[in-house]
Amino acid sequence: MIELEHVVKNFHADKNNAIHAVNDVSLTINDGDIFGIIGFSGAGKSTLVRCINLLERPDSGSVRINGVEMTKLKPRELYKARTKIGMIFQQFNLMPSRTVFQNVAYPLKDMTKDEIKSKVRELLALVEIGEKENAYPSELSGGQKQRVAIARALANDPDILLCDEATSALDPQTTGAILQLLKDLNKKLGLTIVVITHEMEVVKNICRKAAVMDAGKIIESGDVFTIFSDPQHPVTRNFVRTTSNLSKIETLIKDDSPMVQLKPGELMARLVYIRADVSEPLISYASREFDIEINIILADVEIVAGAMVGGTVVIFNGPRERINRAIEYYRSKDIRVEVIKDAGA
Ligand SMILES: Nc1ncnc2c1ncn2[C@@H]1O[C@H](COP(=O)(O)OP(=O)(O)OP(=O)(O)O)[C@@H](O)[C@H]1O
Ligand SMILES: [Mg+2]
Repeated sequence: MIELEHVVKNFHADKNNAIHAVNDVSLTINDGDIFGIIGFSGAGKSTLVRCINLLERPDSGSVRINGVEMTKLKPRELYKARTKIGMIFQQFNLMPSRTVFQNVAYPLKDMTKDEIKSKVRELLALVEIGEKENAYPSELSGGQKQRVAIARALANDPDILLCDEATSALDPQTTGAILQLLKDLNKKLGLTIVVITHEMEVVKNICRKAAVMDAGKIIESGDVFTIFSDPQHPVTRNFVRTTSNLSKIETLIKDDSPMVQLKPGELMARLVYIRADVSEPLISYASREFDIEINIILADVEIVAGAMVGGTVVIFNGPRERINRAIEYYRSKDIRVEVIKDAGA
């Protein structure tokens, strides 16, 4: 378990100006979790995660890993504790003059040559890149480099893997493959994974829980589904919006597109699903039940953390009293109804 309590880390640009990179952060990450830390550039994500393995020493606050207070360890104990925390980066940080095998073998100490050979081969097989053991990093693609970096980070059988923008340099398909690998490692090895990213897609894809950071603080945290379906903080809303198709409606309205022009009596609304089970055919049911037309303009429904999230933009057409009953019905089903445009009753 990773427990941060009131962690503070300031940088001093000059005598009079302090940058509050991490500003009083408390956070618990349970064993076996895949935990996301999201935020815009400069939010303090990297600094926070570097406080976990004490690559940055906090100015104040407590960092406990499996009950051990990291800030109190002597250098030798800290060195040992760090071997149980692997880390990977956006730029892979492989040593260019060493082969794949040598890069992965690098952190292995106190082992015979044969033991090293079998451990490295086991790690390379785990990340599915065994055939490249004699290649140099310059001969690998980005995705392959990251696989090697992951193998190296796992060399000392860590309990925790910290990933700082590990997929940010990769194309979407390769990103998907690396995220799948991380998911498999989490399952197979029971590895606790902390994923730092500015990409909501990454969090959506693999994290179960997440925290949103802004200006050194955690402004929202919880399970990923709740963060996505019902974001509370404006910064989080902004983040979620950037990944949703539904935000296109604002552009369509601004451009006065024919798609969004209403006839008298019509009402345009965004239906946002804020619960896990949207198995009922909600549009066709309401249309039949209340005898109105409901036309879908945009839809964006996807699976987050195994549950459905998203919504649709629709235009209701019919007597206003029946439209209102349909809206009441949706609200009773835990669907948030936001009126976007109303051509009056
Ligand atoms: N070594 C340092 N010296 C001075 N200031 C620093 C240092 N490291 C980080 N900062 C500052 O601390 C703040 C947080 O930086 P950090 O790298 O943690 O952000 P981040 O959320 O990881 O951003 P990004 O998404 O761009 O990687 C920034 O204002 C940054 O300029
Ligand atoms: Mg960073």
